[in-house]
Amino acid sequence: MSDAGKDLIPGTEWWRTAVIYQIYPRSFADANGDGVGDLRGVTSRLPELEALGVDAIWLSPFYVSPQHDAGYDVADFTDVDPLFGTLDDFDHMLAEAHGRGIRVIVDMVPNHTSADHEWFQAALAAGPGSEERDHFVFREGTGEDGSEPPNNWQSVFGGPAWTRVTEADGNPGQWYLHLFDTSQPDLNWEHEWVAQQFDDILRFWLDRGADGFRVDVAHGLIKASGLPDHATAPGPVASGGDTLDNPAPFWAQEPVHDVWRRWRKVVDEYDGERVLCAEAWVYPLARMAKWVRPDEMHQSFNFAYLETAWDADALKQVITESLHEFSAVGAPSTWVLSNHDVVRHVSRLALTFDNPQGHGIGPNSPAMPDLDIGLKRARAATAMMLALPGSAYLYQGEELGLPEVIDIPDNARQDPTWARTNGERYGRDGCRVPLPWSPSEPAYGFSPTGASWLPQPEIWADFAREVQAGDPNSTLSLYTAALKARREFGTAACDLEWIADVPAGVVAFRVGEVTVYANLGDAPVPLPAGKILLASSPHDSELQPDTAVWLTH
Ligand code: GLC
Repeated sequence: MSDAGKDLIPGTEWWRTAVIYQIYPRSFADANGDGVGDLRGVTSRLPELEALGVDAIWLSPFYVSPQHDAGYDVADFTDVDPLFGTLDDFDHMLAEAHGRGIRVIVDMVPNHTSADHEWFQAALAAGPGSEERDHFVFREGTGEDGSEPPNNWQSVFGGPAWTRVTEADGNPGQWYLHLFDTSQPDLNWEHEWVAQQFDDILRFWLDRGADGFRVDVAHGLIKASGLPDHATAPGPVASGGDTLDNPAPFWAQEPVHDVWRRWRKVVDEYDGERVLCAEAWVYPLARMAKWVRPDEMHQSFNFAYLETAWDADALKQVITESLHEFSAVGAPSTWVLSNHDVVRHVSRLALTFDNPQGHGIGPNSPAMPDLDIGLKRARAATAMMLALPGSAYLYQGEELGLPEVIDIPDNARQDPTWARTNGERYGRDGCRVPLPWSPSEPAYGFSPTGASWLPQPEIWADFAREVQAGDPNSTLSLYTAALKARREFGTAACDLEWIADVPAGVVAFRVGEVTVYANLGDAPVPLPAGKILLASSPHDSELQPDTAVWLTH
């Protein structure tokens, strides 16, 4: 075989087809009863994840942190916060997961640290002009006495992206940049010292056996030189008002790709196909595909797909574009429908109003989603997603069909978005409520004492894993069956072939021996011939609206 031919053969590495389950540790399982999930809790529930059939888990941050942004404000990248346990607990969890054939991906947060991090504390102490300040993005203010921020950038969580410090002499001094909360100062990635620290941090976790990293804000890190104003005031969402016509000077700057090339070299020092997965909110998909060029990351969450409305033509279009753009750089598409930053897809797919990433829904939102419709759509959407070629991420609780929790009392809300927008945006607490495991135990089996860092709604009893485990029609059973069939038929490694001439509102495609037929329209459509492997909702000779099936011949 010629070398040229070899390049065209898609790789067989595990991550190209893997199903990776996101654990949000504080809400997964609480072993010590303090109301916040922990690593021992994760270990105790690995049998359930093995039974579900996932290939890997990704854990959101469990590092030392004051928890102003639920751990995405890291004060020590190489230790576990006592809230979540110890490094020994991590090692034990990892060994147990590996023993069950489950790989473990950890979260890495390189765009910023916590303000409590010793690097930032050293920068504050060392004062203007110091080497330590240059590890972050400090600038003089504007206006007569420097009392105006250095530019017009807005924080993703609302409010200005700059905070002024008080210098050692007690006077107001320089400003530091924080694209997120004021407690999350941005690092200066133009500084080689910063890059070196992260090389070591990556190796620390790789040496412990981590199978890779989900990389937080992978479209950030590098800011346009001179920190120019953003041409129009950016919308405060993770994509930051970034469009091709009006690129944000703080996202998707070309030199950020040098960072990912550097990180790729580090992970490639290790055996076992370790991975890098980008959280990069950039559009269009052709631009996102840059993150997964052969010498950069392996995966990049397909947020264009996540954000696509429940509409057959729109879905066909985004799937076609995804497969085209990612395969052009030799990468799989990494499908995802839910995570800890977006409204859970059971609720999102039934929304009748626009709800950008991270805005959340609450009691005063313009309209409440119809959860019967939402659950039906979510089950169909997942059945479809899990047949698509490539990798897929699941977010804890979606296998139970959990909806977004809307009625969290105002004073219980914890997402900084809520406070920074004075309650204008609900934020992300509604998708982060601790999981129900059992209908009758304290905190629905989440914690032995009944404590829960966010209040759990009464409907959690109906969604509990124990209730669903024995029910063949439950959402848990659907997910388990889909993962099994996906493995058995190898659909994720097949090419997708669209089926033409289907009724309006139908999405239909073949992947290997499997045909997927999904009705997104308003009326039933005839069910094609074939043996039904999987159905997202009950069916007869017709396929009801908001239903997807897998068929073989
Ligand atoms: C990413 C995380 C989000 C966090 C933000 C700042 O978008 O997914 O949860 O708040 O980065 O680290």
